[in-house]
Amino acid sequence: MDNALGAPQTILLLGGTSEIGLAIVTRLVGPHTRAVTLACRDRGTGEQAAAALTLTCPDARIILSEFDATAHDRHQELIDQAASEMGDLDLVILAVGQLGDQTALECDPVAAAALWDTNATGAVSLGLATAARLRAQAHGTLVVLSSVAGERVRRSNFIYGSSKAAMDAFSQGLADSLIGTGARVLIVRPGFVHTRMTAGMKPAPLAATSEAVAEAVAKGLRSGSRTIWVPGPLRFVFMVLRHLPGPIWRRLPL
Ligand SMILES: NC(=O)c1ccc[n+]([C@@H]2O[C@H](COP(=O)([O-])OP(=O)(O)OC[C@H]3O[C@@H](n4cnc5c(N)ncnc54)[C@H](OP(=O)(O)O)[C@@H]3O)[C@@H](O)[C@H]2O)c1
Repeated sequence: MDNALGAPQTILLLGGTSEIGLAIVTRLVGPHTRAVTLACRDRGTGEQAAAALTLTCPDARIILSEFDATAHDRHQELIDQAASEMGDLDLVILAVGQLGDQTALECDPVAAAALWDTNATGAVSLGLATAARLRAQAHGTLVVLSSVAGERVRRSNFIYGSSKAAMDAFSQGLADSLIGTGARVLIVRPGFVHTRMTAGMKPAPLAATSEAVAEAVAKGLRSGSRTIWVPGPLRFVFMVLRHLPGPIWRRLPL
């Protein structure tokens, strides 16, 4: 259960090596933190992340667990295992994602479907498994890292963008399904964030850092928001972009 000041005592990070996910965890941990589980695909990279987190938060138990977002039949077990090791899950952060190479993916239907399997279908099984646990506890928050890329899908990255659109739409429905249960979902829609996912790419306007996303998430958790955009003005930019006629939208250098 969140402590008296509303700070989570237990955190599960799905995508335990994600730069944005780790920035959020680092922003939220403190003396109130009992335990953090980093659920990672690769144990070696996870161990490095766990070591860094131990320095930030020496009194908390840092647990590593292995998982793959495409192993849908293992996700309920993963969530239940984290709860049995840490106690109630106060905060679960879904930070799994792959950007992929759009040009290569357009020529490789199997790889494109695999990316969707991670970003979209993986979010469905992880989201439902988490919601079942939070509903049973009658408290807890699932933070979902969506993206503005799903708000209006661009020709230049429509495979990633459409997978984020699907996971965003699913998360909105999941949030509705939890109303009145004590549990909730916070949907985060960042624009371009400087992480290894975007390394070497030309930053888009209003580019942000992982720390800025983490700060916005901390504020969103405090205020009980359902959806946040990072940075905030992207909400208004996309209010306009969403309604542009197709011929104009397609000519924009996005
Ligand atoms: N960076 C941006 O500009 C940006 C903008 C908007 C939204 N987002 C979203 O924010 C989230 C975090 O992104 P990030 O920038 O922090 O990127 P990141 O550092 O590359 O993190 C992505 C995470 O997903 C994990 N992952 C990928 N495929 C997986 C699979 N099949 N099973 C389990 N884990 C898997 C990666 O694990 P490995 O270490 O094993 O690869 C890594 O932990 C993603 O959902 C992304 O779509 C990012």
